[in-house]
Amino acid sequence: MPIPQFLLQKNKKPKIFFVGVGMETLQVMFIALAVIAFNQNVVHANFYKSTVFTWGAHHSSISSNGNDLQLVLDRVSGSGIQSKKQFMFGSIEMLIKLVPGNSAGTVTAYYLSSTGSMHDEIDYEFLGNVSGQPYILHTNIYTRGNGSKEQQFYLWFDPTADFHNYTIHWNPSQIVWFIDGLPIRVFPNYESMGIPYPNKQAMRVYSSIWNADNWATRGGLVKIDWSGAPFTAGFRRFRARACKWNGPISIVQCALTSTTNWWSSPTYSKLSYSEMGQMKWVRDNYMIYDYCKDAQRFNGQLPQECFIQSFQ
Ligand SMILES: *[C@@H]1O[C@H](CO)[C@@H](O)[C@H](O)[C@H]1NC(C)=O
Ligand SMILES: *[C@@H]1O[C@H](CO)[C@@H](O)[C@H](O)[C@H]1NC(C)=O
Ligand SMILES: *[C@@H]1O[C@H](CO)[C@@H](O)[C@H](O)[C@H]1NC(C)=O
Repeated sequence: MPIPQFLLQKNKKPKIFFVGVGMETLQVMFIALAVIAFNQNVVHANFYKSTVFTWGAHHSSISSNGNDLQLVLDRVSGSGIQSKKQFMFGSIEMLIKLVPGNSAGTVTAYYLSSTGSMHDEIDYEFLGNVSGQPYILHTNIYTRGNGSKEQQFYLWFDPTADFHNYTIHWNPSQIVWFIDGLPIRVFPNYESMGIPYPNKQAMRVYSSIWNADNWATRGGLVKIDWSGAPFTAGFRRFRARACKWNGPISIVQCALTSTTNWWSSPTYSKLSYSEMGQMKWVRDNYMIYDYCKDAQRFNGQLPQECFIQSFQ
């Protein structure tokens, strides 16, 4: 039996309890602290170590020992990174601070994707706006090359004022988009009903910024004001607590419910009652587009998943 090579244990902090403090205990404490300190150093995937620039490296930068990434868009080009590793299920976090001021026409993206014409993809895309007007968070999911499952939101905070935590929680049972711990969207696995679910193809993590002024802001009416360039989006503390892809064997190995694969444990197989309440609050108050309500687009025939309560 090969030992499954499950991944990125880096974030696991040892839990240590101290009982009494003798000389030996102090020694143990010292060692324990050293271990903690060491682990702290490798807690977060480092942009230097874990990602590569795919585009626009010349004007982008990594700082704070690899903790921070600045992606830049100017007249010459946008920019982007991708993770070196591929994953199959996990909890993938990124703190993001969006382009401030007049960001109309820009799109900043953070997503997981496999490759090829039948690819899977899980998206966060932030559509910029003129100063003082709200960004739109555009979400989508592609399964076997098919997207068309867009949901859009305004945000309940100014995403340019500070870093916020955008996490994709992907396991065999469901995909959850989280913002600062609040679930905003869920895509449950209803493969048994013939609805494709991403669980066969490994995905990489991507971030990028580009010119999308042909569609992003008010449907393309507002163009980029290049006098405000360069446009910079900040990314911080990228952390992929996820199962590393080791080839097709990972389809089975990464789907196992082991302690290593904590993101697949029963607790994460569906939203809790309070998480459902949080998601309802977000969707009742901030959702501005839902493909599941757009009957016209689907010629009156809404997709099958739209009739399942937990997709709502
Ligand atoms: C980001 O959110 C995820 C999902 O709620 C959570 O597990 C994680 O601890 C958060 N990370 C930070 C840095 O707050
Ligand atoms: C930009 O602001 C306008 C006016 O408030 C709004 O209609 C639109 O949804 C906002 N966001 C984008 C990305 O267009
Ligand atoms: C693609 O997904 C949409 C949304 O679920 C669905 O309406 C459509 O039938 C799918 N297309 C194909 C070719 O599966």
